[in-house]
Amino acid sequence: MSEYLPGLAGVPATKSNISNIDGEKGILSYRGYPIEELAKNSTFEETCLLLLDGRLPTAAELSDFDEQLRDNRQVKYHIRNLMKTLPESGHPMEMLQTAVACLGMFYPGNECLTGADSCQDLDYIHNMTVKIIARMGTFVAMWEHIRNGYDPILPRHDLPYAENFLYMLNGKEPDPLLARIMDVCLILHAEHTINASTFSVLVNGSTLASPMSVIAAAIAALSGPLHGGANQKVLEMLKEIGTPDRAAAYVDKKLANKEVIWGMGHREYKTKDPRAKILQGLMAEFMADRGGNLNPMFEVAKEVEKVCEDRLAKKGVYANVDFYSGLLYSEMGIPADQFTAIFAIARSAGWLAHWREQLSDNRIFRPTQMYTGEPVRKYVPINKR
Ligand code: COA
Repeated sequence: MSEYLPGLAGVPATKSNISNIDGEKGILSYRGYPIEELAKNSTFEETCLLLLDGRLPTAAELSDFDEQLRDNRQVKYHIRNLMKTLPESGHPMEMLQTAVACLGMFYPGNECLTGADSCQDLDYIHNMTVKIIARMGTFVAMWEHIRNGYDPILPRHDLPYAENFLYMLNGKEPDPLLARIMDVCLILHAEHTINASTFSVLVNGSTLASPMSVIAAAIAALSGPLHGGANQKVLEMLKEIGTPDRAAAYVDKKLANKEVIWGMGHREYKTKDPRAKILQGLMAEFMADRGGNLNPMFEVAKEVEKVCEDRLAKKGVYANVDFYSGLLYSEMGIPADQFTAIFAIARSAGWLAHWREQLSDNRIFRPTQMYTGEPVRKYVPINKR
C-alpha cells in the first residue's frame, strides 16, 4: 500500500459493528436500528446500552443500567474545587477535557487492560463507562453555574438523564417537550462511525491508556470547528446574516472567498444528513408548541439551506447535524459555547462503545508515513551555520 490519501478519506481504519452510514441514501443506523426509529421510540439511556452491548436491553437490564447512571452523577468535591479554579472565560470543551482527564486520577486501574485480549476485565470496562457517561452531563451543567460565580446544582436521582441535565443547568425541571427534545438530541449525537474524535478513541485506546484519558483526547478532537465545534459557528453565522433576505449575498461572498458555510457538508453524506431532518422537525414541533412564535433565526437558517442547496448540491454538500442543533439549544436558553459540550455528553456513549470494541481485538495503531524531508546529513556545529 503506497498511495497517500489526505485525511485518510475512504481508508478503513477498523472493523466495527456499532453503527453504519449509507451516505448516498442518507441512512444512519446504530447496531442496525435506523436513527429515525431510535429518535421516535428510544431514550438516551437505552441507546447507550444498545451501543455498548450491541442489542436492545430487556426492561430489567435497562432499569439496572439507568440506576447505575443515576448513582454515578455526583462528582467528588475535589473535582468541583478544581473546576472553580478554572478561568470563567475558558471554553466549556476545555473545561470538560480537564474534568474528564482529572476524573482518571480518582479511578485508576487501567493496568487490568493488558495484552491483545485486553477486554478481559469487563467489570472494569463497564464501571468506567458508567462513571464517564453519568458524569459528562454533571460536568457541563456544573460549569454553567461555576463560571457565573455560583455553586453548582446537585444532580437529582429521581430524574432521567436528559431531564436531570436540564434541571442541573437551569435550576428547574424542564417541561416534558423540552426534556424529550433534549433526549432525542442526545440519541442523535450518540454515535457516528469513525470520525476524527472516534478515530482518536481507537488510537488512544489501542495504547491501553485509561478510559478517562481516551475520552479526554476525544473531547479535544471534537472541540475543533471542523468537527463538533460547527454548531456554535452556525449560530454565530445566522446572527451575522440577520435576516433571510441577506442569506444569498452572504453565502455567495463566502463561496467566492473559498470559505465554508458552517453546518453544511459531510465527508460521509452525499445527501441531507438524516439527523438534520429530525432536528428540523423537532424545531418545527417546538415552535408550534410555543404558539407558532418562530425564532427569526429559524427563517434565516431555512433560507441559507435553500441557497446552499442551489449552490452546493452539485458537490454533494447539504445540511449536516450541526445546522439545526445549535438553533434548538439556543431556543432552550443554552449558551452557544455549551453546544459542543452537549454533543460530547451524547457522544461519550459511542466513544466508549468503540473503546470497548477496540480492546476486544487490540493492536496498537502505528501507521506509516511518506517521508518528504532531507536525506541523512551531517550535524553542523553552531559556529559553522
Ligand atoms: N461550504 C462550502 N463548500 C463546501 C462545504 C461547506 N460547508 N463543505 C464542502 N464544500 C466544498 C469544498 O470546498 C469542496 O469543493 P471543491 O471540490 O470545489 O474544492 C467540496 O465541497 C468537497 O468538500 P471537501 O472539503 O473535500 O469535503 P471534506 O469531506 O474534506 O470535508 C467537512 C467535510 C465537514 C470538513 C466540510 O464539509 C466542512 O468544512 N464543513 C463545514 C464545517 C461543518 O459543518 N462541520 C461539521 C461536520 S458534522
